[in-house]
Amino acid sequence: MRVTPFGLDLGTVRHELARLRVDMSVAVVRAKNPFNVGAIIRVAHSFLVREIFLIGSESYYERASMGMHRYETIVECADEAEFLQQVAGRPLVSVERDHAQTTLWQANFPKNVVLLFGSENDGVPPALLAASDQIIAIPMYGINHSFPVAVASGMVLCEWARRRDPRARPSSASAEEVRPGDGG
Ligand SMILES: C[S@@+](CC[C@H](N)C(=O)[O-])C[C@H]1O[C@@H](n2cnc3c(N)ncnc32)[C@H](O)[C@@H]1O
Repeated sequence: MRVTPFGLDLGTVRHELARLRVDMSVAVVRAKNPFNVGAIIRVAHSFLVREIFLIGSESYYERASMGMHRYETIVECADEAEFLQQVAGRPLVSVERDHAQTTLWQANFPKNVVLLFGSENDGVPPALLAASDQIIAIPMYGINHSFPVAVASGMVLCEWARRRDPRARPSSASAEEVRPGDGG
């Protein structure tokens, strides 16, 4: 683990971090994502998400979280139905290019939003897409079909944070600079 030792016990660090946490959570389908689940926990920690929902029962590669799982609230959901129960009443935004209604640049991120990421093989399951308030694509400009899901999570969380950061400036891109087909 490469975190500077604070000389504080785990409970104290968790308690201090709890005061700083944001009104956004991350969810990820565990199946086919053994490394990615760990990497997403590492990414999610850096944005101090409220909690991380793991859907399914497949094991994941804990070391990919670089120890950050110890500081996070990880909510294990045995299946999709349990996940939907857990997040009932909260806005659910699926990140899935194939079924997207809008792009990351145009998406709404309401208070308490849960951002859901799918599996490397199958994406976000149909039942969870159907339950989503919004499905968003991250614009891609090459010939590849998708980003690795851990990279996708970093981009979406970064955009979420950018909109709240006083250092961020409004985009100055003109309509002409947006190429046809962007975000498909
Ligand atoms: C490797 S993708 C698989 C996506 C797709 N079902 C497929 O078969 O190509 C794994 C996950 O990464 C996320 N993802 C990767 N690239 C994306 C993009 N351009 N737009 C939205 N989500 C993306 C989604 O959460 C997706 O479920």
